Amino acid sequence: PNFTIVGMSLLGASGDLAKKKTFPALFGLYLQGYLPANTRIIGYARTKMDRADYLNRISQHIKNKNTPKVKTTLDQFLVQSSYVAGVYDKDDGFQRLEQEIRRVEIETGAKDRLFYMALPPSVFIPVANGLKKNCYTNKGINRLIIEKPFGMDLESSRKLSDALAPLWREDEIYRIDHYLGKEMVKNIMVLRFTNMMFSSCWDKDHIENIQITFKEKIGTEGRGGYFDEFGIMRDVMQNHLFQVLSLIAMEPPASMSAEVIRDEKVKVLRAIEPVRESEVLLGQYGPSEDGVHPGYLDDETVPQGSKTATFAAATFYVNNRRWQGVPFIIKCGKALDQQKVDIRVQFKEHGGNLFPGLSNARNELVIRVQPEEAVYLKMTQKLPGLGMNTVMTDLDLSYASRFTQLAIPEAYEALILDALNGEQSNFVRKDELDEAWRIFTPVLHKIDRGLVPVEIYPYGSRGPRSLPDFIRRFGYERGSMAYSWPSTSL
Ligand code: BG6
Repeated sequence: PNFTIVGMSLLGASGDLAKKKTFPALFGLYLQGYLPANTRIIGYARTKMDRADYLNRISQHIKNKNTPKVKTTLDQFLVQSSYVAGVYDKDDGFQRLEQEIRRVEIETGAKDRLFYMALPPSVFIPVANGLKKNCYTNKGINRLIIEKPFGMDLESSRKLSDALAPLWREDEIYRIDHYLGKEMVKNIMVLRFTNMMFSSCWDKDHIENIQITFKEKIGTEGRGGYFDEFGIMRDVMQNHLFQVLSLIAMEPPASMSAEVIRDEKVKVLRAIEPVRESEVLLGQYGPSEDGVHPGYLDDETVPQGSKTATFAAATFYVNNRRWQGVPFIIKCGKALDQQKVDIRVQFKEHGGNLFPGLSNARNELVIRVQPEEAVYLKMTQKLPGLGMNTVMTDLDLSYASRFTQLAIPEAYEALILDALNGEQSNFVRKDELDEAWRIFTPVLHKIDRGLVPVEIYPYGSRGPRSLPDFIRRFGYERGSMAYSWPSTSL
């Protein structure tokens, strides 16, 4: 297929994502030769601006712009980019967009159209409608990539799906969850289903608990308006981290086809009961202890007195044969001490310790999603020497030292390429979305009504003070305090 790529809101007031992620990803694909040389990119948004201004905005976040190869390729790419300004709820803007698409299609011979919608929920359906009515081609393929938020709860998400369904077929819709494009997240199925060592002990008989952790150092700086309405549970837990959970917990699919994989992921979600309030811990960051960083409520874009959580921990159980009783603990937060995303699979202890009094901590498989991608397995060894001592150490596959010649692709590059190739397995199907909302909606409604306490934690700390107790309650053991993964030695 030869696509013309049409970005709805490739810039403009709401176009932060487009500027920072989508456009750089499209350029990244072009630079690496994954887009046909004559691919055209058309931006559409409300803001009126001239061509120079537009080009300037979309190229703002391109990396290494001053190296000769990037510079020449970018100049060429910009020549192939154009912009149409128009509103989101009237036909005439879409008609002008259609004219522009036709103009470039005559030049390039392209017949297929990829529409990319990164828009606020209020204009989501009008745009899906306007595109279908005015810009849908009967001569080639039409695909529509859409970005979250896909609603606020089960009901609003269903409303969106129901409004979208008569306009776009499910096989034309690509709901993006960019965590599914991350290298390490894509590695989960390979790791689990090709290695006997892991597949044979991936169950409740061998695993004590699983933890998925998302930490960011920065707060909501400037994004408070959007964030305050959603909160951290809707922002990253219900979508990104739940996708990770599904991949960790799913049964092996019968094939790698998109529908078969997504069927297995949905089955996992169906086996999870709605999260209970007693199994949720919420936090909101206050000012840092040294007073340098302001708290969440000091952000001008945040409504006064907001109770929105910037930190959440919650525990889920997958009630099926494989996982009955194993806690899946998800923690996520902003303005914390570190920036990292990892998955910790903590194995059970052996009965009958042959080495009493010596370190005999649990095995733990850590899939380090970012930064410093790695897979490592914490294990006990004999401490080298004449004495009989044990020590906690690891088998460490750090990508930076192992795959020295290989670059890790950007999540958005991987997913846009999938969408161009018609590969839907790394996109969210309607029933997956529905099930995820079912699990979160009751507790989210309680949170929205202020019925769940929110603990203040200092900016830059490890999170709410009661977090260690919360995690211990579900059986996680920190293991040897002397051990730490040697990330800085990379
Ligand atoms: C986005 C959230 O979906 O994911 C942000 O809206 C969050 O709040 C981001 O920061 C995290 O993505 P990444 O790729 O930086 O881990």
